[in-house]
Amino acid sequence: MAYNLLKGKKGIIFGALDPNSIAWKTAERVHEEGGEFVLTNAPIAMRMGQINELAEKTNSEIIPADATNEEDLKNLVEKSMEILGGKLDFVLHSIGMSVNVRKGRHYTDENYSFTEKGWDVSALSFHKVMQSLYKAEAMNQWGSIVALTYMAAQRTFPDYNDMADNKAYLESVARSFGYFFGKEHKVRVNTISQSPTPTTAGQGVKGFDGFINYAEKMSPLGNATADDCANYTVSLFSDLTKKVTMQNLFHDGGFSNTGVSQEVIDEFSK
Ligand code: NAI
Repeated sequence: MAYNLLKGKKGIIFGALDPNSIAWKTAERVHEEGGEFVLTNAPIAMRMGQINELAEKTNSEIIPADATNEEDLKNLVEKSMEILGGKLDFVLHSIGMSVNVRKGRHYTDENYSFTEKGWDVSALSFHKVMQSLYKAEAMNQWGSIVALTYMAAQRTFPDYNDMADNKAYLESVARSFGYFFGKEHKVRVNTISQSPTPTTAGQGVKGFDGFINYAEKMSPLGNATADDCANYTVSLFSDLTKKVTMQNLFHDGGFSNTGVSQEVIDEFSK
């Protein structure tokens, strides 16, 4: 059901790779709610991905940008304002990748050049995106910036590897930049801490099936899906959440506040 929550709002959506991507679902929901946007992804992801299909469906243009490259980001922000005809109201950062995870390097055996690359893509890129927006004065007052994160930033999940550290950094950047964006431009900055979700990035985590099933059994409401996440993001882009900022918002069916569930106890009582 659509409520026209984003009518007249304009923005940029990073990270739609394929129809499973959280950013893909979010783009579809934002479009349904009347928002207009530019889609962006790393040039290499565009060659492999199906983003054209999404662009057609949502009447959007695509501008390639490597989120670690400041020149690309400057160009993206300028061109987006030209295409959309003004400043922006919302930005979604939905980007993550660990080279150590991809190459099967254990947390206790990191290759630090892999670590740096993964940190740049997954965490520092959020600062780079916001700095590009800030310097270009690209955000309208009461705009909203959201990035996606995972609870491994607070609690240890052994197979989440160096992404745990990247997410801790990302969440800190949201608070730190959120202060300046709030003070200077009345723009809010938040991270959504999402349940495990079967996407390309999610399934890269070792033992993902066990991981997602465990989370499902531990969450009183069950795991939040990518569609649920898209809905939550729409609410954060809307005018209904104007004073929510500098928060890490758990969107996980209650997982983060559950010590143990009856289902998990039952498994161990067999
Ligand atoms: P996905 O694989 O569909 O999306 C990740 C995106 O990052 C891809 O579109 C990829 O092309 C993009 N990307 C990688 N390097 C880039 C670069 N240099 N510049 C620009 N874009 C780049 O996977 P998903 O799950 O939709 O991931 C989105 C976000 O959600 C990530 O931040 C992820 O860590 C987070 N998240 C995912 C969870 C899951 O279980 N899938 C759980 C909690 C958070």
